[in-house]
Amino acid sequence: RIESVRALEILDSRGQPTVRVYVVLDNGVVGTASVPSGASTGKREALELRDGDVGRYGGKGVQKAVAHVETIMGPAIRGMDPRGQAEIDQFLIDLDGSPGKGRLGANAILGVSQAVARAAARALDTPLYAYLGGTGANRLPRPMINILNGGLHSDFTLDFQEFMIVPVGADSFREALRYGAETFAALRQLLKARGYATRVGDEGGFAVSFDDNEEACAVIVEAIAAAGYEPGVDIALALDPAASAFCKDGTYHLAHNGHGVSDSRALVALYERWVGKYPILSIEDGLAEDDWQGFQDLTARLGDKVQIVGDDILVTNPELIARAIAEKAGNAALIKPNQIGTVSETIAAIQLCRKAGWAFVVSHRSGDTEDDFIADFAVAMGGGQIKTGSVCRSERVAKYNRLLEIERELGRGAQFGP
Ligand code: PGA
Ligand code: ZN
Repeated sequence: RIESVRALEILDSRGQPTVRVYVVLDNGVVGTASVPSGASTGKREALELRDGDVGRYGGKGVQKAVAHVETIMGPAIRGMDPRGQAEIDQFLIDLDGSPGKGRLGANAILGVSQAVARAAARALDTPLYAYLGGTGANRLPRPMINILNGGLHSDFTLDFQEFMIVPVGADSFREALRYGAETFAALRQLLKARGYATRVGDEGGFAVSFDDNEEACAVIVEAIAAAGYEPGVDIALALDPAASAFCKDGTYHLAHNGHGVSDSRALVALYERWVGKYPILSIEDGLAEDDWQGFQDLTARLGDKVQIVGDDILVTNPELIARAIAEKAGNAALIKPNQIGTVSETIAAIQLCRKAGWAFVVSHRSGDTEDDFIADFAVAMGGGQIKTGSVCRSERVAKYNRLLEIERELGRGAQFGP
């Protein structure tokens, strides 16, 4: 039974406040969870409650969310069985009562939801991935490793936010991680040799400014080869342009040689050209969050060979995912628990994907913490894909290190990839 719920205002990887929750059971077991925070957020995401008191953290404090956990949610779920995740999540949704979880705060609600799951798993002495996914949960996700950062994650050193590598030729998680880390090291040498600074962005990829966005793809392909891998065979590329961030009034603005790109037709043509030239297997948020037509066009053009992922356009929201499935606007969903606000709703979004034959990618946020919940969650859901940044910055590496542990624990029973 849940005895008490505590919360704390902690810092995320950008030095901004976020919520950590402790769910204490009457047998002394404690489950904790820390909530991440995005920068390139979708406008339909569940609401992250911030204090707005400019005298503290420039208004970004989360003392209200913390208070809501301790004085409203905690007392309300006291005595409940932590194994009743669906029941507790629904109870919290009703307790909030607003459509975007803005009254109590989605950051407060998700913290409680995830800490409840952790407490239940601990009380049962079961690893979190097995608790959430059942005893059959044995599939390690193939990582999409973000090694060049642009967009809102690096003050727009490039227009496109994420250039990722995907170790498609690796046959285990630990080998995939090694492929990725070796390529990251090779990229560092390559950039240094060309006189670039090798500082990193919010997700741990290098924040390098090229004249042309396309140079990012070219230099990554070089780094893959320099690390001793065959581009496209051992390691492929994935993009998250996060196009909402450079779309204003329906027009796309590329500062780094956009080849005249201004509307979604031209942007789709640019992706087609790149896909013909580079081994790109996944494009997330290639168009802006309101550009449903653009998503349909991109899917029609490239959807048979490229994974077309919706992030800002879908915001892990089952209603929006259902619409995208019906309208063929994409063929995969990015899954971020804090976009929707409870563990149960996140699982519902994934079930919808599964039913439609859509792929899904479990994801971190650009502001994250040492919490590794999504590592276990990715294994529990079994989709075979995770996106959790580069192989540097400990809030990113924490997830990878947890996956290494899970892989060893599963031993010969471990499966890998989508
Ligand atoms: P965010 O970025 O966490 O800043 O929203 C991640 C993404 O766009 O996938
Ligand atoms: Zn994204």
